[in-house]
This record gives sequence, structure tokens and C-alpha cells, in this order.
Amino acid sequence: MEFRYSNKVKQMKPSIIRELLKQMSDPQLISFAGGNPAADSFPADAIRKFSDELLATDPVGMLQYSVTEGYGPLRKAARDYANRQWPVVSDADDLIITSGSQQIIEFMTKLLCNEGDVIAVEEPAFLGAYNSMCSFGARLAGVPLEADGVNLEALEQVFRDQKPKFFYCIPNFQNPTGYTTSLEKRKAICELAVRYGVPVLEDDPYGALRISGEAIPPIKHFDTTGAVVYAGSFSKVLCPGMRLAFCAGQPDLIGKMVVAKQGSDVHTNVWAQRVCERILTQTDMDAHLARLQDIYRDKANYMMAEMDAKLAGRMTYIKPEGGMFIWATLPEAVDTDAFVKKCLEHKLAVVPGSAFYTTDAPCRSVRLNFSTPSKEQIAQGVEIMDKVLRELGA
Ligand SMILES: Cc1ncc(COP(=O)(O)O)c(C=O)c1O
Repeated sequence: MEFRYSNKVKQMKPSIIRELLKQMSDPQLISFAGGNPAADSFPADAIRKFSDELLATDPVGMLQYSVTEGYGPLRKAARDYANRQWPVVSDADDLIITSGSQQIIEFMTKLLCNEGDVIAVEEPAFLGAYNSMCSFGARLAGVPLEADGVNLEALEQVFRDQKPKFFYCIPNFQNPTGYTTSLEKRKAICELAVRYGVPVLEDDPYGALRISGEAIPPIKHFDTTGAVVYAGSFSKVLCPGMRLAFCAGQPDLIGKMVVAKQGSDVHTNVWAQRVCERILTQTDMDAHLARLQDIYRDKANYMMAEMDAKLAGRMTYIKPEGGMFIWATLPEAVDTDAFVKKCLEHKLAVVPGSAFYTTDAPCRSVRLNFSTPSKEQIAQGVEIMDKVLRELGA
């Protein structure tokens, strides 16, 4: 059968990461390509304990259909979690539990964009977001990302000239760059959003994974007008397999998301929601987050020390203050695709930076993930990059 795919699907870019992951069955392969949380970061004991308890005491509540906006006590717990450092979700906001933050990106696009409408996006940024947006026929206006956040002049120009339906950004330890948007730029983004009437989707899956520097309030903290929609996720702080995230914003928008969700997956997995609520309210989340930060600090510092020792002057990077990625730039003389290919030949997977752009412009950077590999694999992987750079004359 020859399927006649829609124009929307034809616009989607196959994920190079998924393509690389196909080779992962090779046990020899070291991967700096994924974005998975560290295997020892999951609160597996707490998940098992609460799951057992709840199934024993309330099997029907755990297994029956439930409300689309999410389990009430989890909605409250998620609100408290989001507000643990600063007010982020205000009394004026509503909140929906979603199946991952990927679903929030999808719903924002579905609710706001007709085919051909423009979405302003940080460039580079999370490929999964670009793909979701393109699948609705949206056009992406990439705004260059700098080490302290998006270029504000370019953002204002896009807001003014292209009237995007919303602006998508990842202010904390961005995927793929690891960059963090400065306090000044966060305030400026909020101000521009209000001035030009362009909502902001603030995607914050990594915010709790800070390993150095001063914590900065989310953009949503500065918003008094409902312009900012905040997406939080439990994927990186508990586990991605639960598929739990939350979206906070103006009640009319969240109400529309509830309707969109009814037509999509009815509600988020109740079993996972119930367990998550117990973890948030009955375990020491601060201690859990501190443990995750220790795991990631240790791995990130180790990867950076290895890179500094073996690749200095040949691969440059800006130290990430959290998250899971280092964005490393190759010397001008080295072709990125050749580098990625040769690394794979030597059994190391890295993602070429071009995968995170809206256009096919050449890119000299690669994304390196430090959360998944062991320290031994990190050392071996850096050695392979050293060898490959030598082979390519650098
Ligand atoms: C920036 C960003 N947003 C959203 C997601 C999706 O996360 P989830 O759907 O698991 O919450 C990811 C996943 O890696 C991500 O990096």
C-alpha cells in the first residue's frame, strides 16, 4: 500500500538522535547522543512502595478513568513544587497535568496555530519541539540563541515583523546548548511579550538540575498579565517513563488545553499521577533534587575536566550551569559531519548541531550528553574525540 502522507508530515525532520539510537543495540557503542536521565537517578524504591500501597488500598481509583485536567491533589502538589523557590504559578493561573511536556508543546501549537502561522523559536533548540510544531503546519522563525539567552534585537524584529503566535524558549540549561538565559533577558522577554502581544511558552524540564551558579527565577515569575505559559516536567527529576508534566497559565488557555486533551488521550496515566503525588508530598524532594544535582555535577565536571585535558584549544564550549548537555564547537578546519561519522566508526555517538536548527545552515557544534554515560565511558568517549580530531588533522 502506498500511503499518501499529509503535507504536515512531509515537513517533519526525522530525528537524527533516533537514527543514532538505532545503533545503540551495539554493546560496544558509547553514547553521548541521548538525553536520558542517569539510570541511578530514579526514585525506584519510592515508586514501588507508593504504587503497592495505592493499589492495595484504592485499586479502583488507581485503575479507573479519571478527569482530563489531572488528579486534583497532584495539580495542587505540582503547583507547590513549581513555587518552591519563587512564586511561579499564581492564584490567577490554572494548571493541567499532561503526558510529558512534549504534549504541552503540541497543545500550544494545536490551539494557537493555523497552517502557515509563525512560531518564534530559539535557534538552536529542542528538535522534538520543532517537529511537533511543524506537524501542525506552523512555520518556524528561528531567533539566534546566545550564551546568555536569545538575541533580543532579533526577537523584537520577529515579534514586530512576523507576528508569531507564540515564542518557544528553554531558559534553563537549554537543550541542546546548555545555555542559561540571564535575569535581564528573562525580564526583557516578558516585557517584549506584553508589548507585542506574543505569548511565551517557557519550557523548563531542566530547571531543578542546577549544578553551579546562582538560581534565577523563571520568566513566568515576572509575568503579571498571563503572557507566559509555563511547562514543567517530572521526566528529568523523577523519571521519563511516568510521562508526567504540568502546564500553568491563564485559565481560558488551560481550559482549551483540557478540551484538546479530551480529544487526544482523555487524561494522563492515573496510576503514575497518584504515585507522583505521594512522592511530591511524602518524600523529601529537596534531598532528592540535591542528590540528582550531585550526580550530574560529578559527571559534568568529569567530562569537562577530560575535555580540558585532552581537547583544549581544539574543542571549545561554554560551561553549562546545569542540565544534561555540553555544546562543543569544532575547529573551523574540521567538517562536522565527517567528525560525527568518524566518531561512530570508533563507536562513539554524538549529535551534530545541525539537527537542532530550523534550516540546513552548516553548524560546527556537536551536542554531548553527560547524564547517561558512566565516567569510564566519558573518559573513553573523550579519547575517541581526541583520536578523531587528530585523524581529521586538528
Ligand atoms: C527542552 C525539552 N522540552 C521537552 C522535552 C520533553 O520532555 P517530556 O515530554 O519527557 O516531559 C524534552 C525532552 O528531552 C526537552 O529536552
